[in-house]
Amino acid sequence: MESELLLRPKSLDEYVGQTRVKEKLRVYLEAAKKRGEPLDHLLLAGPPGLGKTTLAHVIAYELGVQIRVTSGPAIEKPGDLAAILTNSLEEGDVLFIDEIHRLSRTAEEHLYPAMEEFKIDLVLGQGPAARTLRLELPRFTLIGATTRPGLLSGPLRSRFGITEQLEFYTPEELAQGVLRDARLLGVALEAEAARAIGERSRGTMRIAKRLFRRVRDYAQVAGEPRITRERAEAALDALGLDRLGLEARDRRYLETLAVKFAGGPAGLETLATALAEDPLTLEEVVEPYLIQAGLVKRTPRGRVATRRAFEHLGLPVPETLF
Ligand code: ADE
Repeated sequence: MESELLLRPKSLDEYVGQTRVKEKLRVYLEAAKKRGEPLDHLLLAGPPGLGKTTLAHVIAYELGVQIRVTSGPAIEKPGDLAAILTNSLEEGDVLFIDEIHRLSRTAEEHLYPAMEEFKIDLVLGQGPAARTLRLELPRFTLIGATTRPGLLSGPLRSRFGITEQLEFYTPEELAQGVLRDARLLGVALEAEAARAIGERSRGTMRIAKRLFRRVRDYAQVAGEPRITRERAEAALDALGLDRLGLEARDRRYLETLAVKFAGGPAGLETLATALAEDPLTLEEVVEPYLIQAGLVKRTPRGRVATRRAFEHLGLPVPETLF
């Protein structure tokens, strides 16, 4: 993508938000560097778009090492993992595995000795003639990213020395991230316009950055060199985002739960069928922000629309919610 690399923050200082996580990481990074050891294996959890991959790159930069990037689904055979670990890693490097919860069970089992003892077993040949060859690996840091930490097996989870949960960004932090992009791209974005984008980005940095690029398109076509709040708001309206930044799919989810299921409780599968959506997408992509925004609650009996959801949709609040 245009300028994606230019816009990606290099250092922890440039990385906006996630203050709590950054403070802890500063300590762990400095301690590892002082000891001359690789950083402990690190698991980054959180909804999509919060900057897990970006943070992994930042950590490698701060450690002054190379980063190799792969993903759970890309590692199909144990041989794939062995190839990555033996070919490209040097002492202290970071191996980043995105969507690590989607690693196959066999790949996962090969990862254990790699994480623990920096060794990997290679199976040579097949059937009765098969032999295993144990290879020494450089001491590396595994950074795993997951939207679903609960799906990781216990043994894998316990092999991470550090686990951090990334949080949704505040509108102010999102505005800061967007202003940084605007500065780097030489776009005159007013602080209030950045704030408007931040308010409608559902707590998600990736969304804020994408909305900024679309707002810039609208301003460009309108021939306006300075992006004001009005211009930004008009563009965001044109994109179909409401005051909370909800898009058509989010509103359809809320309306279905509020109207068709009378506010719930409704089970995830039932909702997914009614919406013709994939339940996993609802659970990992759509619901986290709706829950964070206090519009939906997960209860043991199913999903429930809150009073705020009815109010946001302009629907009468049912008496059961009083
Ligand atoms: N650019 C600046 N800060 C960022 C962050 N927290 N996540 C993603 N990109 C960023």
